[in-house]
Amino acid sequence: MKKVYISRMIDEDAVKLLREKFHVDVNEEDRELTREELLDIAPKYDAILTMLSNKIDKEVIDLAKNVKIFADYSVGFNNFDVAYAKEKGIYLTNTPDVLTNATADLAFSLLLGVARRVVESDDYVRMGLFKEWKPKLLLGKELFGKTLGIVGFGRIGQAVAERAKGFGLKVIYYNRSRKSEVEELYSAKYVSFENLLEESDFISIHTPLSDETYHLFGKEQFDMMKDDAVLVNTSRGPVIDEEALIETLQSARLFGVGLDVYENEPVVPKSLIGMKNVVTLPHIGSATEEARRAMAFIAVNNIIQALDGEVPNNLVYDIS
Ligand code: DGY
Repeated sequence: MKKVYISRMIDEDAVKLLREKFHVDVNEEDRELTREELLDIAPKYDAILTMLSNKIDKEVIDLAKNVKIFADYSVGFNNFDVAYAKEKGIYLTNTPDVLTNATADLAFSLLLGVARRVVESDDYVRMGLFKEWKPKLLLGKELFGKTLGIVGFGRIGQAVAERAKGFGLKVIYYNRSRKSEVEELYSAKYVSFENLLEESDFISIHTPLSDETYHLFGKEQFDMMKDDAVLVNTSRGPVIDEEALIETLQSARLFGVGLDVYENEPVVPKSLIGMKNVVTLPHIGSATEEARRAMAFIAVNNIIQALDGEVPNNLVYDIS
C-alpha cells in the first residue's frame, strides 16, 4: 500500500479520501515539522502534503527517493526548488483559485483597515480613551475617487480590482506581462512599475515571490511613492525589503501599511509592531473555512492523481 504523509492536520473529510486508498500518517501535533523531522520523513513516503513553511530543497528532494509528489497546501510555492524537482521527475502542486476570494477580501480589509485606522481606533476604545466625540479624532482617508495600484495582476490581483469597482477606486496595474484581455472587465490601466509607484494612493501587492520580485519594494521604490500612500502586502514578505520599509516609516513617510506576510516569518520586527499606522496580521490570507476546506480537497486530489499514475491537475511546472 502506498504511503502518504500529511505535514499538518487539515480538513478531516479530505484526509478520509486519502485513507480509503493509501496508508496515511499525519503530523497530529499542532505545530510545524522541524527540519530534522522533514528530513526523516522524506525517504519513507510516496507522497507528502506540505505547508508553505516546509522548504522542499535539493537536500529533501535527494532523500525523497520514493516520493512521486509534494502537494503544497498553498497557492504560493516559493518553498519548492521547482527546477530540481522537475529534473528528478517529482510532481509539485499547489492550490490555486479556491483562495482567490479569501485573499482578495483580506487585502481589501487591510486597505480599509489602514485607511480608516480601524485597529488603532479599536485600541483607543479598549484603552478607555473614548470620552467624547471629537471633530479631529482618528481621521483617515477615503477610497472613493483615489487610485489603487495593483502589483501582480493574476487571479488575486484581478479579484482585488473587482472589489475596487464597488469602492469607486481607479485601478492601475503592473504585471510582468500586460493583461490586455481583462483590462476592460476591471477598468484597469496598465502602467510601468515606476508610474504605478508615483501615481497610486493605495498599493496592493499580489506578485509571487521569485528571484525577480525579491525586494521589489526597497528604498528607491518607497522614495517614489506618495508621502501619504497606503501599502498592503498579502503576497510574500520578501517582496518588500523590510528594513527599508521600517526606515521609510520612521522618517514619517507613508500614511500606513498593512502586512499579512513578513520577510522572516514568523518573525515580525518589533519596530513594525510598535507603529500605530502599521496593521500586522499572522499570514491569514487564505484563512477562511471555505478556502481552507477547498485547499485540502485540491491538495488531496493532486496526491490521488499522482499516485494513481496520472498527471495531477495543479502541477506548478510545465511538463511539455
Ligand atoms: C498561499 O496559499 O500562498 C497563502 O499565502 C496562504 O495563506
